[in-house]
Parts: sequence; structure tokens; C-alpha cells
Amino acid sequence: MVEGVGLLQLSLSSEVRCRNSSTLHFWTDSQVLSYRMVGAVELSGVARALSEFNRWGGVVLAKLVLLFEDSLNVRPNRLVPVRLGMPRCIACFACKSQYLPCPRTWDVRSVAARCPEINVQVRRRTPLGNQKNLPAIDRQLEERQLGQFIPLHYHFVMLQDRLRLESFKNAIARLVQPSMHVVELGGGTGVLSSFAAQQGARVTCVERNPVLAEKAGCFLRENGLHESVTIVLQDALDFVPTEPVDVVICEMLHVGLLREKQLEVIDAFKRNYRAKFGLSVALPTFIPEASVLMVQPVEQDYDFAGYWAPVPLFQSLECVQESTVELGDLEPYSVVSYDEVFPFRFCQEQVLPIRQAGHCNALRFVTQNSMHVDMASQRAISWPNQGLVLPLPTGFEVRAGGSLKIQFDYEAGDPLEQLSGSLQVSYIAQRSSLAPLRVNSARRAA
Ligand SMILES: C[S@@+](CC[C@H](N)C(=O)[O-])C[C@H]1O[C@@H](n2cnc3c(N)ncnc32)[C@H](O)[C@@H]1O
Repeated sequence: MVEGVGLLQLSLSSEVRCRNSSTLHFWTDSQVLSYRMVGAVELSGVARALSEFNRWGGVVLAKLVLLFEDSLNVRPNRLVPVRLGMPRCIACFACKSQYLPCPRTWDVRSVAARCPEINVQVRRRTPLGNQKNLPAIDRQLEERQLGQFIPLHYHFVMLQDRLRLESFKNAIARLVQPSMHVVELGGGTGVLSSFAAQQGARVTCVERNPVLAEKAGCFLRENGLHESVTIVLQDALDFVPTEPVDVVICEMLHVGLLREKQLEVIDAFKRNYRAKFGLSVALPTFIPEASVLMVQPVEQDYDFAGYWAPVPLFQSLECVQESTVELGDLEPYSVVSYDEVFPFRFCQEQVLPIRQAGHCNALRFVTQNSMHVDMASQRAISWPNQGLVLPLPTGFEVRAGGSLKIQFDYEAGDPLEQLSGSLQVSYIAQRSSLAPLRVNSARRAA
């Protein structure tokens, strides 16, 4: 039995053996599926059912509650991303929504009949051998950068992000009950604290920016919730609650967990909490529960009204982006479960299969946050924050069957430049090797 956690990959050609009579729970964007496992035959049934919910470029979030013999020991309740052999939502075969959960609901059994046989393969994630030391980051300078400092007007933009607020609101409605004590770390305008207060909870909202703390106070008063929410003007890294906490909400989420300090802040909270209440007191429930970090090879049109500018682009994942051609699937490179020990460093070496020919000149980074998975109601809530399309220094003409080998190295909370500066990419053609082309000249020639 091999120790550790890896990526579980489902594909059309691979195979897995599992212990008899284990129970396997999967959850996806819309449902939790529980299966009793009796050998590989039953497992392929699960894979077929799962493929129904395959809406994230082939990746869904799964919770495994079983041991895989020989190859991998998956801890109970460990979240792992599951990749299926087929891209996107195949439930309806006509679903145009690439990133949002398919609006229709499906009977697993009716779809299973249409799916080919899928087996399972277990792959261990190996860290890069040649880990280099990261340059020191100037903390004072960083404090002034967007991400650490978020100006008030950008908070007003965040209030307009319907999907973001709905996913938090729904998760809070499921998890927070009257008389619970809820803590929000980084409260901003207080909107997420208000959702918890609406459930009848006592809320402590921690915010270190005085302008925001004051604004949150005004808004909460206007909403008649000021008596339920205590605003604490403090750095969340130093915050210690005076009484036990049932739920912690923290939205310092940036794509790739870059820029904002989600991990550092939650880690400090867990440390402070244990120091205050002891190890025997259970940690609160975290919203979100987990984040899945993914990367994808793309062809990006950097033409802005005739002006070519290959720059990092942030894009909404709620709609199809016309200027971005997907050349391969989203490949997960890390899963962060907020109630577990964090992988603070993302030092990756990964091969991205190419599914479509094109000029690969960028990588798209996507982070899907699992807000809450409710086993009882068989529902799951997730939210992808803005995607990041990062230009490559050199573009490649790629063909289906080839693959892109990528390496990068950054720490959670690092500036984008740390990721882009560490990025190394090469193209592995399947048959004939193709020379790399410069991004600009290739696009302009086209
Ligand atoms: C992305 S905003 C989210 C705001 C609000 N929760 C919302 O959802 O609209 C992150 C917030 O965390 C605050 N923040 C960042 N680091 C913090 C820290 N160390 N302590 C307290 N607040 C912090 C920022 O000022 C900002 O208001």
C-alpha cells in the first residue's frame, strides 16, 4: 500500500482494483453520489454515472471514502479531483454551458446507458526534483498591491458578482443555524456576514481596512443586522475568538490562490484557535470547504482593436470567452481542503494533453471553489473565481495527440509575477517534432 494522496484519474483506457465492499461517495457540481463498491465492475458503473456531471472540462470534485488496494491509500473524506475520459457536460450532449452547472437535472441511470465503459487509474503526484529557492518578497511593497489592498470601488464591483454571492449565500443557508457563532475573516462590505446573520447567527466580522469596516457597519445597519454582527477592526492573522466558533467564512480567493492570503489567514486562524481552545475542540466548518487549482493550454487572441498586447488577462468563467480557444482540458494540479494541512507551495511539473490543433500561446488558470457539499440533501455548491490567462514567452503550433510539458513554482499568496516568472513550457509532438514559433510573429502572420 502506497502512502499519500494523489490524483485519481478516470480514463477510457485505464484500470483499477478496489477493495470489495467499500463505499464510494462522489460529489459533483450538483449531486452527491454514493455507491457501494464491489470490485472493478461496480466502479465502472460509478465512472459512467460520474461522467454525467462532467461539466468542468472533464474535472469534477469527488470525495472518496475507500482504500485503493496496491496503488494508493486515500484518506477517508479526502477531496480529490476526478478527471473523466470525456470532456465537458455529456449529460445532454447539447449543453452549451461550459463552466456553469448544466441547468437540467438528470437521472444517472438513463445517462449511464449512453456512456462507454470507463475504468479508473490512480496517478501519484510527484513534486519537482529541482526545486529552486523562491526570491524573497518585499512585504511592505506587497501590502500596497492589488489583492492585499482592495479599494472600496472594487468591493462594489464584487457586490455585482451574482454567482459569487449566490454560492456563498446558498452554502451559508445550508450550514449556518440560529444561535451559531460565525466568524468572517476579511469582511469587506459585510455582505457575507449579513448572510450568516440572516440565518439567525451571531457573527464576528474581522476586517483590517478601517474604510471597509466603517462601510460594513453602515450597510449592516441599513439592513437591520447591526445587532447580530460585531465588526472587529483587526488583522485576521492576529484574531483570536473569545468563544468557540461553529463556522468560518473566508473569501480571500484569487485564481491559483495567488495574491490574496487565504491560506495564510486560515492557517493562522487554525493555529490561534487551537492555542486558545486546545486540540480536543473540533475546528469550525470552513466556507469554502476546498479549492481545486487547474490549468489548461489555450490559444488566446491578444488583439485589442488592432493592437497586439500579450498580457495576463482575467476573465469571467460564467460565459464562453470568444477570444480563448481551448486546446486541451483543464488539468488539476492541486486540491486544498481548508480543514486539512495546506500545500503552501505549488511546485509543479505537469503534462497537458493537447486535444485540438492550434497555436498554443497561453495557459489558462482556473480555481474552482467548493463551497459546501451536503451529503444528506445530495447537493453541492461550487464557485469558480475569475480565470487567469497567462501568455507564454514562446508559442507553439500544437496538434491533437501532442502534449505540453509545463513547470512552475510559486507559493500561495505570491504575486502573479512569481508564477509567470517561474513558468517553463515545452511542446512534445506525438510524431514529428515542431519548432516553437514566436507568439507575436505567429499571430501577426496569421
Ligand atoms: C476579496 S475581499 C472579500 C470581502 C468580502 N468578504 C466579500 O465577500 O465581499 C477580501 C477582504 O479581506 C480583507 N483582508 C485581507 N487581508 C486581511 C487580513 N489579514 N485581515 C483582515 N482582513 C483582511 C480585505 O481588506 C478585503 O476586504
